[in-house]
Amino acid sequence: TPKGSCLESVKVAIDTGYRHIDGAFVYFNEHEVGQAIQEKIAEGRIKREDIFYCGKLWNTCHPPELVRPTLEKTLKILQLDYVDLYIIELPMAFKPGDAIYPRDENGKFIYHETDLCATWEAWQSLLEDPISTASNFNRRQLEMILNKPGLKYKPVSNQVECHPYFTQPKLLEFCRQHDIVIVGYSPLGTSRDETWVNVSSPPLLKDPVLNAIGKKYNKTAAQVALRFSIQRGVVVIPKSFNPQRIRENFQIFDFSLTEKEMKEIEALNKNVRYVELLM
Ligand code: A2P
Repeated sequence: TPKGSCLESVKVAIDTGYRHIDGAFVYFNEHEVGQAIQEKIAEGRIKREDIFYCGKLWNTCHPPELVRPTLEKTLKILQLDYVDLYIIELPMAFKPGDAIYPRDENGKFIYHETDLCATWEAWQSLLEDPISTASNFNRRQLEMILNKPGLKYKPVSNQVECHPYFTQPKLLEFCRQHDIVIVGYSPLGTSRDETWVNVSSPPLLKDPVLNAIGKKYNKTAAQVALRFSIQRGVVVIPKSFNPQRIRENFQIFDFSLTEKEMKEIEALNKNVRYVELLM
């Protein structure tokens, strides 16, 4: 993000009423998020405990001995004493080291063999009052953790792509059965940045059904998409660096979709990911 835009956006978001902030070391703007939180605390607008901050353990930091130092580094960047949620960003590891995306001479990613259960254990032990959680885990990976001998803390949430074009019905059902909350990323269909987004899937917010339903309630397609997710019990983390759209995305608690509309939107599912994570 352009320097300073994250700082300003988080401040607008907090003023608007947002309290759940989703960040990561690998977004390279955690210092701005932390500064925004500190400024709002200093202004007296919020207390630290009002904020629910989610941080993420990057792929190069999976070896158990790196988990604690990595979290400590993140806390320092954020100027916070704790994060509310700390998730394994992706269920596979890269070679540890300074390179965030380590590649060999042929440009291929250099992976690293770690045991996901060992990473889980390392982190179980570092949190006094832990909320253990996962990201981009499929059913098999969640089951591996849930069935781990001596499991102390089970995953309580799983952050995955989720929106009307990728509704994740099976994973949602599995997670419901195990009291795992789905946190849906790209709830608006992403920024369609071709460097990391599969743009062959059509733009979500241009969808005629979402727009028609929006018209009925005097809402935008974005607001309908977000409302659809929260009505299914999916937590949404919409991203915007525009103050007007940050506010717009919060105006979703004054209307509700009928069962018929929910079904209509569910039927839009294309089972195609915008974020393919080919790595
Ligand atoms: P911008 O930052 O200019 O608002 P996602 O949350 O699915 O990752 O989508 C993020 C993208 O959606 C960003 O490009 C963001 O652009 C755009 N966006 C965010 N809110 C809205 C909105 N209410 N209407 C249209 N586009 C939006």
